[in-house]
Amino acid sequence: MSVTNLQGDYDLILYGLGVMGENLVRNFARNGYRVIGVNYVVPVTEKFARQVAREDVRDRVGVAETLAEACKRLKSPGGAVLTMITANDPVTQPWGPIDQVFFSGSQAVRSDTEREEVPPLVELAPEGTVIIDGGNSHPRSTRRRCAELEKRNMLFLGAGVSGGPDGALKGPCIMPGGSRKAYDVVGKMLQDVAAQADGPCCAFMGPHEAGHYVKSVHNGIEYGIMQAISEVYHALARLLGLKPAEIQPIFAEMNAGRHGGYLMEISTEILGLTDAETGAPMLDVVLDRAGQKGTGKWTSQLAFDLGVPVPTLAAALQARIMSSFKPERVAAADALACAPLKEFDPEGRDKLIEAAGDALYGAMIASYAQGCWLIQEASRADPDEHGGDYDFTVPMDEVARIWKGGCVIRSRLLDPIREAFLENPDLHNIMLAPPLRRILNDGSFQQNWRAWVRTMVENGLPADAIGNSLNYFDTYRAARLPADMIQAQRDRFGKHGFERTDRPGKGHHLPPSD
Ligand code: 6PG
Repeated sequence: MSVTNLQGDYDLILYGLGVMGENLVRNFARNGYRVIGVNYVVPVTEKFARQVAREDVRDRVGVAETLAEACKRLKSPGGAVLTMITANDPVTQPWGPIDQVFFSGSQAVRSDTEREEVPPLVELAPEGTVIIDGGNSHPRSTRRRCAELEKRNMLFLGAGVSGGPDGALKGPCIMPGGSRKAYDVVGKMLQDVAAQADGPCCAFMGPHEAGHYVKSVHNGIEYGIMQAISEVYHALARLLGLKPAEIQPIFAEMNAGRHGGYLMEISTEILGLTDAETGAPMLDVVLDRAGQKGTGKWTSQLAFDLGVPVPTLAAALQARIMSSFKPERVAAADALACAPLKEFDPEGRDKLIEAAGDALYGAMIASYAQGCWLIQEASRADPDEHGGDYDFTVPMDEVARIWKGGCVIRSRLLDPIREAFLENPDLHNIMLAPPLRRILNDGSFQQNWRAWVRTMVENGLPADAIGNSLNYFDTYRAARLPADMIQAQRDRFGKHGFERTDRPGKGHHLPPSD
């Protein structure tokens, strides 16, 4: 018997009933929209139908066995299809599941043996339907899809959605980009379900791949801040012998102040958790091998493509990669030694805790600074020089505003960042914004940040995010860098030529060697 239970017309089809997808259905329905939930594995749709039948949103939620059946009941014009499907890597898997659903046809899987071919959305969706890819797609895939769908007169949005299952239910941050016309049709609907912070945490990020570009960078910043927080917890535990529960109040205090934000909040909570099986602090039983789904890697790749420095974000990625070599690290821990850890007297201990706060804040500023600069550089880049990529201009003050609610990197620091971009949309680096500059130039703040990094180096502890953030600060503010020697070396072995400090022109050379 078919699971389809549709009655009348619907505003939206949500295709992909994973943890995010099913909660988005509930969120749209709670906001008064009529939604159809579909998953390509029919038993998943069935399970969802059973659950939702017991919930107060049931009158506004229908389910369909196939996308084809769902499309017949979509409101037209003005209906939308939101896909929440795992993205593909544009290099290793250029044609992914999203492309099948959109362009070549997919399947409805009833069981191991029973499948039904489903025509592509471009054939199924009524004219004027807005198609929204709400997954973490690579900006290049999104640009390609935008162009393909435009050719077929379809309206498309590539929308980054942040906030996990909880955000999906209570209000995520939505970063849509693509067709402005599409946003005019579905913008209100997306804004209605988004989190609220000085208005809805959903705004049009720009044409083509702008939305997914902003979401990728969001995830890069997420990696940077997560790594910095983790380094602080790790060092306080290792150097001061503090248990997670003893670190919790230190984090709670930071979270109540200027460090406040979602990642600090969940880290504080995690520090207080106990493993039900062993009674040990939860963190003691979590294996130190970080996973990643790829978007953090994309951010570093995108930054390297454009030549924008993102040392904190890249270091955070590399730290996850290093962590994945657990057996090798365990073996090396025996083979490679470091002098015993330093002892801390009570005064040294208080100083280290104070330094932790400033060092972490420095790394947070650096993470946002790198991400914002990357988005700005993408906006400035000439599409003709980049095969058509970057044909967008992202409103930075709006990025900072919508990131204030619903998303993983929401934090208090976004207030001065937004103010800074409102005052000067072309601000080169948020470290130059007066309120942040004041903090960074404060002698004791800087000394604390430096002392923290020095302590990590002296004791052989990781400072990937916090140390690289300090380097970023120091190299960005350096009027002169060691690149003079690099240019001279390049000229010596490759005759590459260099620029001189005292007159223009590029093709200057070193005197011939003897
Ligand atoms: C969000 C998150 C989310 C993230 C996944 C996987 O904004 O809600 O950024 O989209 O991509 O949680 O992240 P990992 O790369 O750490 O696996």
